Amino acid sequence: MKPKRLVLFFKGLCWALGVSQLGRVIGGLYFQAEYLGANPLAKGMNLLGWWSLFFLTLTLVWTPLSQLTGQTWWKQLQRLTGLFSFAFAVPHMTMYAYFDQELNWSYIFPDLLDRKFILLGLSAFSILLVLAITSTKNWQRKLGANWKKLHRLTYIAAVLGILHFTYRIKVGLQHPEVKAFAIVIAVLLLVRCLPWLKGSISPSSKA
Ligand code: HEM
Repeated sequence: MKPKRLVLFFKGLCWALGVSQLGRVIGGLYFQAEYLGANPLAKGMNLLGWWSLFFLTLTLVWTPLSQLTGQTWWKQLQRLTGLFSFAFAVPHMTMYAYFDQELNWSYIFPDLLDRKFILLGLSAFSILLVLAITSTKNWQRKLGANWKKLHRLTYIAAVLGILHFTYRIKVGLQHPEVKAFAIVIAVLLLVRCLPWLKGSISPSSKA
């Protein structure tokens, strides 16, 4: 298949997955569906957070995959999956502010200081917001070479996201899903840093 068609095919898959899951959670909350269990707000919110982290992790896969296969078209999926991560994070964060804290800053501020994982979530969200805003062609042109540097923050957002997940769960890294996300993100981070690490320890780099 031609790269153009492959991109279309995989973009279609991402759209199908993202829209169906977003619709499932939001529709489930609206219609009080049984699959959201006895506490639909908590379950819905957790699902939105989970999918946001899933799409963020997926966004980190495309660069190593294109290097591994020599097929650069994989990178064309980065923007879409990154925006899906943001699309799940927005209702996730809004539900926290609206349902948990009644949109009241005098509740939200102390909670940010009290519960480390909330601050970590907010930090990850702030990065996703900046990346989503600057993801357009227009911003890419405006920022030039700095655009790539800025969008490397995706890695930091993923690390903050997994820390947020780890601190939210009492057993932390012992939880199988937390562990799986942490391992995948750590491997992707390592793969990305490998050329830089090799360069900094190779004898020629000391010369
Ligand atoms: C201002 C931003 C954020 C706030 C205030 C926030 C808040 C929360 C809260 C309160 C929970 C626990 C919900 C419950 O137990 O009922 C939660 C869970 C979670 N959040 Fe966030 N979050 C934020 C951003 C993010 C972002 C950006 C991500 C992903 C990159 C994320 C991923 C998760 C995950 C994976 C869970 C646990 C899901 C599970 O238990 O299956 N959150 N968040």
